[in-house]
Amino acid sequence: MVSSKNSSKNTGPSESAKRLKSLVDKRTQELKESNKKLRKAQAELRKVREELRYIDVKKNQFMSITSHELQTPMTSIRGFSQLLNKEEVFKNTKRRKRYLKIIQGESRRLSKLVREMLDLSRIDLGTLKFHVSTFDPVELIQDIKLQMDRIAKEKGILIIVKTDKGLPEMTTDRERIKQIIMNLVSNSIKYTSKGSVTIEAKKDGDFIQFSVADTGIGIAKKEYNKIFERFYQANYSYDRTTTGAGLGLSICKEFTELMGGKIWLNSKVGEGTVFFFTTPIKFTTSKLESPIRNKSKQSKKSKKSKKRKKLKSRRSKRKR
Ligand SMILES: Nc1ncnc2c1ncn2[C@@H]1O[C@H](COP(=O)(O)OP(=O)(O)OP(=O)(O)O)[C@@H](O)[C@H]1O
Ligand SMILES: [Mg+2]
Repeated sequence: MVSSKNSSKNTGPSESAKRLKSLVDKRTQELKESNKKLRKAQAELRKVREELRYIDVKKNQFMSITSHELQTPMTSIRGFSQLLNKEEVFKNTKRRKRYLKIIQGESRRLSKLVREMLDLSRIDLGTLKFHVSTFDPVELIQDIKLQMDRIAKEKGILIIVKTDKGLPEMTTDRERIKQIIMNLVSNSIKYTSKGSVTIEAKKDGDFIQFSVADTGIGIAKKEYNKIFERFYQANYSYDRTTTGAGLGLSICKEFTELMGGKIWLNSKVGEGTVFFFTTPIKFTTSKLESPIRNKSKQSKKSKKSKKRKKLKSRRSKRKR
């Protein structure tokens, strides 16, 4: 008896100690896991906070660039129209023509900015529309050359057109493709002080590959992706004489991708740049669904189904 009592006394505490230890181990493990989850949640929170800060910076950048880009041409238009109001200036044909040219240029700059901001907001809202028609890409490029020749000549730059023989007609949005090429050509003219700008088009399977090459200042490799971001201007810091909001290339990229193609570049600083983009010969609508538009469609659907449910329940009440 004594020995059994002793033995129970000996085993008892060791078993309860074991149980206690396993309980402590379990709790420690649980604590470790919740600590891990907490750390993960903290990291996610930090990431969200950083994203919010980034959005805030972008929003402020947007406000400052757009107000500057709107303010500058408006000041110029106001100033020159006030000058034209003076009789002696108005009577001087040379000065009048020069001032009117500035006013026209600045109003074009204003409407370009407003049009681009509208395009971007339509892209974000998923309300951008494409107008499909059948056209000859060679004729389109000739059209662009004709339109851009004057401003190229003013800088002593030659516009060259090279197109493959027998290029097929395209069935897609002519105006959007024109807008992409015009943006690329006007960039090339803007960032080139002498030489040429070459517009090319060739067939590549079910696509047409367009390219715009210049002999301008070039773009460093590290800027290749950034220049397609909204409001990003790579040469802004050392060339303050050029104008622009940094929207052109972001619009080119959005349009190209929405139409089912790709855009990229090759460049050498000090030697020149070539921008390439592809676009399907025949337009398909597969890429046009935007998340925002989908959400609004879903909310419309759920509103409709709620209405239907309400009507059903009212009818069944009336029957009762
Ligand atoms: N052909 C080019 N040669 C050299 N740099 C270029 C060329 N095209 C674009 N870039 C660089 O890429 C940046 C972004 O171009 P983007 O067309 O988006 O803006 P922008 O021309 O400055 O303004 P916007 O097009 O809104 O008038 C430019 O500011 C410039 O630094
Ligand atoms: Mg541009």
